[in-house]
Amino acid sequence: TTIYVPRDSAALAVGADRVARQIEAEARARNADVRIVRNGSRGLFWLETLVEVTTPQGRVAYGPVTRADVAGLFDAGFLSGGAHALNLGLTEEIPYLKKQERLTFARMGVTDPVSVADYEAHEGFAGLRRALALAPAEIVQQVLDSGLRGRGGAAFPAGIKWKTVLAAQAPQKYIVCNADEGDSGTFSDRMTMEGDPLMLVEGMAIAGIATGATEGYIYVRSEYPHAIATLDEAIRHAEQAGFLGDDILGSGRGFRLIVRKAAGAYVCGEETALLESLEGRRGIVRAKPPLPALQGLFGQPTVINNVITLASVPLILARGADFYRNYGMGRSRGTLPFQLAGNIRHGGLVEKAFGLSLRELLYDFGGGSASGRPIKAVQVGGPLGAYVPESQWDLPLDYEAYAAVGAVVGHGGIVVHDDTADMSQLARYAMEFCALESCGKCTPCRIGSTRGVEVIDKITSNQNRPQQVILLRDLCDTMLHGSLCAMGGMTPYPVLSAINHYPEDFGVEAPDRA
Ligand code: NAI
Ligand code: SF4
Repeated sequence: TTIYVPRDSAALAVGADRVARQIEAEARARNADVRIVRNGSRGLFWLETLVEVTTPQGRVAYGPVTRADVAGLFDAGFLSGGAHALNLGLTEEIPYLKKQERLTFARMGVTDPVSVADYEAHEGFAGLRRALALAPAEIVQQVLDSGLRGRGGAAFPAGIKWKTVLAAQAPQKYIVCNADEGDSGTFSDRMTMEGDPLMLVEGMAIAGIATGATEGYIYVRSEYPHAIATLDEAIRHAEQAGFLGDDILGSGRGFRLIVRKAAGAYVCGEETALLESLEGRRGIVRAKPPLPALQGLFGQPTVINNVITLASVPLILARGADFYRNYGMGRSRGTLPFQLAGNIRHGGLVEKAFGLSLRELLYDFGGGSASGRPIKAVQVGGPLGAYVPESQWDLPLDYEAYAAVGAVVGHGGIVVHDDTADMSQLARYAMEFCALESCGKCTPCRIGSTRGVEVIDKITSNQNRPQQVILLRDLCDTMLHGSLCAMGGMTPYPVLSAINHYPEDFGVEAPDRA
């Protein structure tokens, strides 16, 4: 019997290693023939450690399993899918999973993350094989036609970026994967690197072949040690199998991949600060232009994409651009792996086509707040995203629809707060976060964020409140329009949304300016 026990950090954090060791020990004691595969997480975090066993009917899930449950599971005959209080039935039939549209996350939790054979048995490397049969411009055209936009948050069309790099003439070009996933409440990049790293390897190799770049770097935040270890292992296996190296599958085309550990600064997720860091300097934002697509890493043309952007490419090549663009709405094509976190009953990963509503995510998937209290505010798109009030929960999750109300979809992180949240304190936190993480290059962000904390403190302690509110709005206006990068430029999103939608928390009647 094959037993799956996740190696994902979320599972490790609740004792997955202990569970795996206990299963091994128990099987030995009972002379049971079992093979344990350490898979990625299915993304149903409240059920971790989620253990699966293979049966003739399919994989049966048990969860949440702790070490103490293991003996009882053997007694109940779990090796053949036996009944037990923790038996969740067939994994694929669990509604949270069944209702999703898993394209990028199709293999997540299904395969052994570092096995090339398992990856290939599940459509792996089909996209790279197809790409090797195409001319570079044809590959770029596929990505353009798919409608894929940058999944890091800015939603810039990936195909246009690739086209710019393909057209640039230079002795060396680079592919850089931004895996500095710093947004609060986000984990889709981490899950990909830990649970299906070969998909990222494949996406980067395709990007290299498409643009003429022979070298790639994955810049991973240091807080992700398991992701780094899994990536290193996956890259080694891909090299051994001939999918990376100087001559990929005898095609005469080459691509090398290097993993670099970041040092823990949020701003190094900003692409130009990331490049500085990768080049060995302090992570300070560079002014654009020049665009990294023309002068990026070591001054050479560089594709910088987020993990999920690159991970979406193999499927687009394997199944064709139309397959992908048939999901989604408007100019938001394909799917987004949404990440449900904060005060939510069923936190986890939900991949769906663009166009579903926040309300569906919060209640149909999330099951409401974890505290059981009414949900008050939902921050969408990371710490620089707006707080979305209930009046906007029926809007479709689509880049343009969110932008129209001053909110962002961003990287798809969703952090839920119940009615005990004090929005003035959350606004203060946004300014404080900016003050801590500012790279210091420009004044609106470096000084504005500290002044922002002071002004909010004056508002909450009722010192000349109406005047301070006007001051806060002016400050936000300056930061929005005068900052060099999104750090200072987007901090006003949570602040202004808090004051506009929850004025009572600031002791003011209603927004005096929209
Ligand atoms: P941006 O709009 O300046 O650029 C987006 C991308 O398109 C960049 O790679 C840029 O170089 C490229 N680009 C723009 N014009 C181009 C052209 N004509 N040709 C080729 N390439 C072109 O946005 P930025 O500052 O890179 O990102 C801001 C976003 O980052 C925010 O919207 C926020 O949601 C997100 N973010 C994500 C975080 C995460 O953990 N994933 C953390 C913090 C922010
Ligand atoms: Fe640096 Fe902030 Fe200016 Fe960005 S906005 S360049 S983080 S000081």
